[in-house]
Amino acid sequence: MQKREQWGTRIGLILAMAGNAVGLGNFLRFPVQAAQNGGGAFMIPYFVAFILLAIPLMWVEWTIGRNGGRYGHGSMPGMLDVLWKHPIAKYLGVCALFVSTIVMIYYTYIESWTLGFSFFSIMKTYFGMDQFDSMHGFLSSYTGAGKGYFESLWPAYLFMLATLAMNFYILSKGIKKGIEKFAKVAMPLLLVFGAFLAVWTFTVGTPDPAGHPDWSVGVGFAFIWEPDLAQLGNAKIWLAAAGQIFFTLSVGMGTLHAYASYLKESDDIALSGLATSSINEFTEVILGGTIAIPIAVAFFGLAQTQVIAAGGSYDLGFVSMPIIFQQIPMGQYLGFMWFFLLFFAGITSSVAMSQPLISFLKEQFDFSHKKATYSIGFVIFICLQFVVFYHEHGFLDEMDYWAGTFMLVIVALIEVIVFAWIFGIDKGWKELNRGADIKIPKIFKFIIKYVTPGYLLIILILWTVQGQQVSWLLEDTFGIIMPEFMKQSGGAIDTLIMSGVDAEDIPYRWASRGMMVLIFVGLIIMVKIAWKRNKPLNSHFDV
Ligand code: ALA
Repeated sequence: MQKREQWGTRIGLILAMAGNAVGLGNFLRFPVQAAQNGGGAFMIPYFVAFILLAIPLMWVEWTIGRNGGRYGHGSMPGMLDVLWKHPIAKYLGVCALFVSTIVMIYYTYIESWTLGFSFFSIMKTYFGMDQFDSMHGFLSSYTGAGKGYFESLWPAYLFMLATLAMNFYILSKGIKKGIEKFAKVAMPLLLVFGAFLAVWTFTVGTPDPAGHPDWSVGVGFAFIWEPDLAQLGNAKIWLAAAGQIFFTLSVGMGTLHAYASYLKESDDIALSGLATSSINEFTEVILGGTIAIPIAVAFFGLAQTQVIAAGGSYDLGFVSMPIIFQQIPMGQYLGFMWFFLLFFAGITSSVAMSQPLISFLKEQFDFSHKKATYSIGFVIFICLQFVVFYHEHGFLDEMDYWAGTFMLVIVALIEVIVFAWIFGIDKGWKELNRGADIKIPKIFKFIIKYVTPGYLLIILILWTVQGQQVSWLLEDTFGIIMPEFMKQSGGAIDTLIMSGVDAEDIPYRWASRGMMVLIFVGLIIMVKIAWKRNKPLNSHFDV
């Protein structure tokens, strides 16, 4: 077995872990989720999910990771195997490897847009497209989803290649000299850029030349923060809040575990885990909540901002912000700052998503670090072809739903049950508190054992009952098995179960699901082979 690396410094570890969590989700996904789900009212289920799901799960993940690292495992199949001596444990761990891999694939693509748009800001490429439609055309022609400035996908493709190359360059340098070193530069810069843009937001006043008094940052804040308490009875916002908490903290992805596996046996996890979550929440709620929505209200007014927010994160980040940058002094530099901030946020997260697979190949198949890194880079490169060229058909959205939303919760449920119920909460609690620099309130022992798993179960049940994706799956199946029936029944089935998916996109959505199934099955087979060939590494009797 190769000697495992370790983090160089505590601050380096905390910045890398915070980089893992702080991502596009903080600046693009959060403001849109808050705006779409009752503004201030959203923050109540959001913080409830933070305390009852995120904090406990984050501690559980760090503990599982540090413990796994002790036995030479940096990915979840091995980590669960040491906690639960059952042949199925390692296969359950595949779910986490699957999530990190799939999210890495599509996340890298969106991350590459931010690199592209940093460049377009400095070069003033989009300057002149100062109406919503023209700027929207700029974005959608860039991604291949519509007509506009770009005539081909090549610019997007080249920025995708550059982004992928940077990710794998950092990863090829390893934990200490790659990820940690990069995080030590990128995270402080990201925070400075974010703070600068947040402060700048307060200085814009009422920029509208027509002088609408209610087009202001203050009205924007009221929009995002004023609680519409009537919404609290709506299950939808509780689900959205939990989904946001998962995504933003990278819980249920297997990436926090992977980083924690490079801790020393008695390094603190209680305080470090809390510190990284706090950095994430500051970045999300304070910086992410301040920039995009309030500034949009100041420039476009509330009604238009609501339309933008309803259009989703891309419209907010890549359409409305560039229009604003065209209207202000030094806009090209502020635009660069915004997109580069997003790029740093993205890349410090995406490197974390490849790490579990890299560890897996090194530990189970004796790959050298470089060979593991480049092999995975190659596989991701192949998968990215589909993501780039079929983006307009919802290929990426499908991955985002099944891996980036649904499976996260499944992974979280698996790990918390294995940790608290199978490994045992008493042993788990002891392990969590070993080397701790703070005393974790005892109540969390109860929360981890009962509240978190119960909460997760309720989310899963609600999703199955309410989730649109379940009906999409049905509708697609009908569409493929009985296309004639679909046609004849016309609107009836459409309105009943078709929730916004274009019929012509159905084959692409199935292709996306097919690719995910292939990757999942491939990982299962690899785990099976690994456990056959590595009996000594994969059998631990001294836990
Ligand atoms: N946690 C990462 C984000 O927020 C994945 O984007």
